[in-house]
Amino acid sequence: MYGLQGKVAVVTGSGRRNGIGEAIVLRLAAEGCHVVVSDIGKPIGNEFSSEHIGATEEMEAVADACRNAGAKAIAVPCDVRSESDCEALIGAAVSAFGRIDILVNNAGVGYLMEPFTEFRESSWDAVLDVNLKGAFLCSKHAAIHMKAQGGGSIVNIASQAAKSGFPFAAAYTASKHGLVGLTRSNAVELGRDGIRVNAVCPNHITTGLGHWQNKFFSKKLGLDYYTYLRGIVDRNPLGRTGLTEDIAKAVAFLSSDQAAYITGEAMNVSGGEEYH
Ligand SMILES: NC(=O)c1ccc[n+]([C@@H]2O[C@H](COP(=O)([O-])OP(=O)(O)OC[C@H]3O[C@@H](n4cnc5c(N)ncnc54)[C@H](O)[C@@H]3O)[C@@H](O)[C@H]2O)c1
Repeated sequence: MYGLQGKVAVVTGSGRRNGIGEAIVLRLAAEGCHVVVSDIGKPIGNEFSSEHIGATEEMEAVADACRNAGAKAIAVPCDVRSESDCEALIGAAVSAFGRIDILVNNAGVGYLMEPFTEFRESSWDAVLDVNLKGAFLCSKHAAIHMKAQGGGSIVNIASQAAKSGFPFAAAYTASKHGLVGLTRSNAVELGRDGIRVNAVCPNHITTGLGHWQNKFFSKKLGLDYYTYLRGIVDRNPLGRTGLTEDIAKAVAFLSSDQAAYITGEAMNVSGGEEYH
């Protein structure tokens, strides 16, 4: 445990079952945090598949699971593409619990993949709006409160795609590299306000999104699903794919005083697959 009892944490995109956000918010709840579970709740816009959306009932179920773990929890819908939604999300945390200590920018879209020469402007905008602008907007409104209260921690869920390139994923890769840039800029600007800002870079995890990516890339490579997955495992130094809990542990550590001298970092959590 990381000594996070009584801290107030907001996790975006945490209302989808088996997602990384769900694992993070459950871990923070188990650590004794008061938590705000948040997700988009419903499909908005033509670019976004309802298959990948954390629905409102799912979000409420995650909040219930946090309460069952003994935490105080509320569920707040937020489309991270909207500044008024992001401001209201942070405001809801402060109204319910009096402050905000931890923001985890986890909401992301990783399924709009197209050959680069056919990449649609609308897909590019959709990915950048969620993955990068969403983190900017939530961080901005969290930082306003964190500055006033004397500090806090922001953790951005980036990706191995923040360090290496992936085919068909120009927008995703650019957004995640950009998220590390946002992390570093925020870290140097907000450090004197007591706000630490870090990123976590997972490799493959078979969440709902990860499953979709396995299907997509195995088809592109002409491999069956399990042969493709075996290839990921075989090239990983620790011999497995990531688990949502691996990311949740890293977030809890980075959010805690155990990481008091760590900021501006983009930490790989990839079993050694990515190491720069
Ligand atoms: N699964 C992996 O292999 C993997 C690897 C590296 C990084 N990541 C990153 O981890 C994060 C979580 O991914 P996941 O695998 O759990 O996928 P997921 O699809 O289960 O979770 C993504 C969440 O973001 C939410 N979301 C999408 N658009 C939103 C919006 N406009 N406003 C608010 N919420 C929105 C979705 O509803 C969903 O709950 C993402 O940022 C993803 O890029 C995942």
